[in-house]
Amino acid sequence: MLSKKNREVIRSTVPVLETHGEAITTQFYQKLFASNPQLLNVFNTVNQTQGRQQTALANAVYAAAVHIDNLEEILPAVSKIAHKHRALGVLPEHYPIVGENLLAAMKEVLGDAATDEVLEAWGEAYGVIADAFIGVEHQMYQEASSQSGGWTGFREFVVDQKIVESDVITSFYLKPADNGALADFQPGQYVTVKVSAPGQTNTQLRHYSLSDVPNGSYYRISVKREAGREDQPSGIVSTSLHDHLSVGDTLLLSAPAGDFVFDCETSGPVVFLSGGVGMTPLVSMLKTALEKQPKRDVTYIHAAINGSVHAMKDDFNQLADTHDQLKYYIVYERPSEEDRKRAHFSKEGFIDLSWLKSVADKDSTFYFCGPQPFMKAIYQGLKEWGVSADQIRYEFFGPQGSLE
Ligand code: FAD
Ligand code: HEM
Repeated sequence: MLSKKNREVIRSTVPVLETHGEAITTQFYQKLFASNPQLLNVFNTVNQTQGRQQTALANAVYAAAVHIDNLEEILPAVSKIAHKHRALGVLPEHYPIVGENLLAAMKEVLGDAATDEVLEAWGEAYGVIADAFIGVEHQMYQEASSQSGGWTGFREFVVDQKIVESDVITSFYLKPADNGALADFQPGQYVTVKVSAPGQTNTQLRHYSLSDVPNGSYYRISVKREAGREDQPSGIVSTSLHDHLSVGDTLLLSAPAGDFVFDCETSGPVVFLSGGVGMTPLVSMLKTALEKQPKRDVTYIHAAINGSVHAMKDDFNQLADTHDQLKYYIVYERPSEEDRKRAHFSKEGFIDLSWLKSVADKDSTFYFCGPQPFMKAIYQGLKEWGVSADQIRYEFFGPQGSLE
C-alpha cells in the first residue's frame, strides 16, 4: 500500500505526465535498449518506430497515476496487458530493469521538476504497480502450465497444412512437434510466434489470433501478408511466414492468451463485425456461437476491399447455408468487375450506422476487429446509436489504441 504522502505527490504529477508522458516513455525505451540490448529480442521494434508502444505505455503510467487511490479500477487494463506480457515471456526479474529505466527517463525529461520527493514517490508507486502485474502474470503462467496440454515458454509446432485463403491471407495448421496433448483455448484468444526472420539480428515476436475452434488436434493461424509500399518496408514476420514457412517446417508458439473472448453465458442476439484479417478471432467465435448456442440469433458482417482479398469465402457461405440462425452480410469497399458479376456482396462502400441499424438489433452484443479506422467507425457508430459500453467488445491487432 502506497503511503499517503506519496499518493499526494503522485496525484500532483498527473498534469505533468499528461504533457510529458510520451517523451518520458520514448526516452525510457532508448535507455532500456542501450543498457539491455537482449530485450530487443522481446520488444517489437517496428511498434517503437511508429510510436504506438510509447503511447500505450505512457497511457498505462498515466492511468496508474490518475487512479493511484483506487488501483483496482485499472485491474481490467492490467489483465489485458498481463495477457500480452505472459504470451511474450515477461518475468518478475524484468520489472526492476524497467522500473530503473523509467525513473531515469522521468528524471531526464522532467529536469528540475523531478525532485527527490517526486522520484521517491514514483519509485514506490512503480513497485506497487509492478507487484500487481507480477501477481496477475504469476497466476496466468500457472494456468497455462497446469491446463491439460498446456505449457509455458515457447513450444515447437510443425506446419501440417498451409492453405491460401485469399490474395493476401494464408492459414497455417500447426501441430505440436512433441505429439503431446494440445491445450484448449477460448475462442478469440491468440498465440505468440517467435521467429528468426531472414536479415534480422534479433528474434521477432508477433501475436496471431487462433482462427479455428478448439479441437484438440491443431491450432490454426491466418496471416495477412503486410506487403509494404515504396515509402514503407514490408512486414518482417508476416512476409517471413508467407515466404519461408512451409509444410513440415517448425514454428515456436507460446500458449494461448488474451481476454477478447466469446462469452457463451450471454444470451440475446450477437453481431460480429470484421474488417480484413480482423476476421480471425471472430471466425472462431462465430463457429462456437453456432455450435454451442444454436438458438441464438447471430449476424456476421465482413468488410473487405473486394473479393480477391476476402478470405475463407467458401467456409462462411457453407456456415450461412447450414445455419438458419445466421444472417451473413458482405461489404466490399471497391468491388471488382468479377465481384459485380457474381453479385455475392450485400453493400458497396463502408459500413455506416443507418445500414447497420437496418441489419442488426440494438440489443445485441457486438464483437469487432479490423484496421483502426474501421474499428473507430464501428465504435463511434455504436455509441451514436446508444449501444451501452457493456455490449461492445473489440480487439486491436497492435498496441491498445484509442477509438474515441
Ligand atoms: P512489422 O514488421 O511488425 O510491421 C508492421 C507494419 O508496419 C507493416 O504493415 C509494415 O509494412 C509497416 N512498417 C514497417 N516499418 C515501418 C516504418 N519504418 N514506418 C512505417 N511503417 C512501417 N495479424 C494477422 O495477419 N492475423 C491475425 O490473426 C492477427 N492477430 C493478431 C492478434 C493480436 C492480439 C495482435 C496484437 C495482433 C494480431 N495480428 C494479426 C497482427 C500481427 O501480430 C502483426 O502485427 C502483423 O502480422 C504484422 O507483423 P509484421 O512483422 O509482418 O510487420
Ligand atoms: C506491452 C505496460 C512492464 C515488456 C505493454 C503495453 C503496456 C505495458 C501498456 C502495451 C499493451 C498492448 O499491446 O496494448 C507495462 C507496465 C509495466 C510493464 C505499466 C510495469 C509496471 C514490462 C516489463 C517488460 C515488458 C517488465 C519486460 C521487459 C513488454 C513487451 C510488450 C509490452 C515486450 C509488447 C510491446 C511490443 O512489442 O509491441 N506493456 N509494462 N513490460 N510490455 Fe510492458
